Amino acid sequence: MSTKTTTQSSPGSAAPQTGAALEISDTRTGTSYNIPIALSGTEGDTAIRTMDLRKIKETKEDFGLLSYDPAFMNTASCQSAITFIDGDKGILRYRGYPIEQLAEGATFLEVAWLLRNGELPTQKEYETWVHDITFHTYVHENIRKFLEGFRYDAHPMSMLCSTVAALSSFYPSAKNIFDKESRDISIVRLLAKVPTLAAFAYRHVKGLPIIYPDNDLSYTENFLSMIARMSEPKYEANPVFKRALEVLFILHADHEQNCSTSAVRAVGSSQVDPFSAIAAGIAALYGPLHGGANEQVLHMISEIGHPKNIPAFIDEVKSGKGQRLMGFGHRVYKSYDPRARIVKQLADDVFKETGMDKDLEIALELERIALEDEYFVSRKLYPNVDFYTGLIYRSMAFPTEFFTVLFAVARTAGWLAQWEEMLLDKEQKIARPRQIYVGPAEREYSSGLTNKAPRARKDSLRK
Ligand code: CMC
Repeated sequence: MSTKTTTQSSPGSAAPQTGAALEISDTRTGTSYNIPIALSGTEGDTAIRTMDLRKIKETKEDFGLLSYDPAFMNTASCQSAITFIDGDKGILRYRGYPIEQLAEGATFLEVAWLLRNGELPTQKEYETWVHDITFHTYVHENIRKFLEGFRYDAHPMSMLCSTVAALSSFYPSAKNIFDKESRDISIVRLLAKVPTLAAFAYRHVKGLPIIYPDNDLSYTENFLSMIARMSEPKYEANPVFKRALEVLFILHADHEQNCSTSAVRAVGSSQVDPFSAIAAGIAALYGPLHGGANEQVLHMISEIGHPKNIPAFIDEVKSGKGQRLMGFGHRVYKSYDPRARIVKQLADDVFKETGMDKDLEIALELERIALEDEYFVSRKLYPNVDFYTGLIYRSMAFPTEFFTVLFAVARTAGWLAQWEEMLLDKEQKIARPRQIYVGPAEREYSSGLTNKAPRARKDSLRK
């Protein structure tokens, strides 16, 4: 069979400066294709454009070759200039700045500005940013009534997700997503109001009166005030707690294309308003394999109950019959999560203030055993950020169910930056993956039903 060679590249795909390409030979047809390695990132990531594969066809009518990648294990869905992770080396940087340096010296709102704008703010920009966010912390009173409709035991993530989605109805002009001014105010509103909604949800679950924002306080202090203030006229946050929350918010602010960020981008790509897109991110974060993991870590620790039970628990995890070791493992980090290192240090500071937590002993022992165990070592399973955050939050007296809400408050900064980057990216379109259909081939409809309008069984209806 003769071999033809065709050079394929999609419109707009920049040929790599090196001219590097894949030579692909299709054994079905004997045709060879030259697929440019069309993209390369700052830190050396390279990619082909998957659309270039479409030209690989068995017959003229053939749709073209698809790439199959469940869970996006090896697919870049965007080019992003926001966050860089090197999972093997344990590196995390926002806009080029190492997370360790930001956690040490920055404020959360400074980081939120950086994530969105790409550069650190000037003093004037920062003051305006802080002012604007502080100015918009109040929410419409109807939102409060809306919250009252939730049961006393509603999960705060459900409440946060619903109230953020509900905010979209209060700001119909937020739909003007291609208008910069409209995006500016929506971003400010979301950063300002998500902590308020989170705190309101907390007070609802606790059956405590709502505490309105105190705009004399900083972002994290005000949040703590809305959570914890009782009858005192002015709330003063414990400085260790205030600092811990600031650092935890910075650590959680962004993490490139994780499940919830991908949800925000995918939902946002339909050009819906940002309140709805962020609500989708909150829903994704709620899951136990994502932001819900910090809550699961504490459930797991209390189930273990005592350090002496750890070996049996680890054996169960390894057998695959029990639960996973929550707070361990990460899709991207195949070494120590750099955030977990910072959080572990932070835990020491907080525990000095609150006294040693009995469960910390179990956590430390779990970590020690897992880091030496062949099962975890060979699979490169290390503690992730969620392993210690729950212990810190609990020692600050946050209820377990509230941990993921704290994650969501911080991640709102990253979701918004990623949402806007997606919107302004000329290459992005509505997210719409392909599938490989494996269901039945065409067949004829022939119903076996004798009654097409049955009613619910009477014996199962409440009298
Ligand atoms: N405990 C025990 N075994 C594990 C764990 C764990 N935590 N994580 C992965 N494995 C095993 C898994 O069983 C598999 O083993 P095998 O090759 O024998 O089948 C192997 O490691 C690879 O696992 P995977 O499920 O293919 O890995 P993934 O990249 O799809 O999953 C993960 C990543 C985070 C979902 C997973 O590690 C996990 O479930 N961890 C526990 C939940 C958790 O802590 N999540 C928080 C993630 S960090 C916060 C965030 O960014 O959301």
